[in-house]
Amino acid sequence: MDDYLQIFENNKAWVQSKLATDKHFFENLATDQKPHYLYIGCSDSRVPANVIMGLDEGEVFVHRNIANLVVGGDSNINAVIQYAVEYLGIEHIIVCGHYGCGGVKAALHPTDMGQLNSWLQAIRDVYRIHQLELDAIGDPHLRYNRLVELNVIEQCVNVAKIDHVQRKWNQTGFPQIHAWVYDLHKGLLEELDVNLQAYFSSIRSIYELKITDD
Ligand code: CO
Repeated sequence: MDDYLQIFENNKAWVQSKLATDKHFFENLATDQKPHYLYIGCSDSRVPANVIMGLDEGEVFVHRNIANLVVGGDSNINAVIQYAVEYLGIEHIIVCGHYGCGGVKAALHPTDMGQLNSWLQAIRDVYRIHQLELDAIGDPHLRYNRLVELNVIEQCVNVAKIDHVQRKWNQTGFPQIHAWVYDLHKGLLEELDVNLQAYFSSIRSIYELKITDD
């Protein structure tokens, strides 16, 4: 059988396995979604959000793109974040990068990649912001890993710049923003060792929108 058609067989088997443990599984899931987390991650096929988090259907709202970027003016991610905080009431936004990220690697080695050029520019901007630290790392592999981490941290900052997030902070103190990285070789998720609150505070005078709710 064609590999493509096999997917429908896989789907039927999955439905049967779900119904075998809970015959109301789909009816219950169809009533509403109340995920607790928004996961912003890389499109890389080896980093499936639900699977690595050990979460079931309905538990995580997901946005994925190349190199887990939160780019100002990207109406796609702006809509996802607005919906997550305003309508789903999500209190935890996770930005998750991964070591071995092809997007980050491509940004480290500038070449003309057509449409991808402007997308990868956002990662080169991260390099520019942290150039002193990155250039001081002699081992190219360690420098690459560190850019993966710094990219996650800067995308967390980009989440904090968004008006919908700042409005919700004023109202409720949420969402919390979390910086994670996934290790392809070990299968492990890690929280990055960074004090995001302190970082946000240090740049607050630049990005705080002083939103007033009428
Ligand atoms: Co990637």
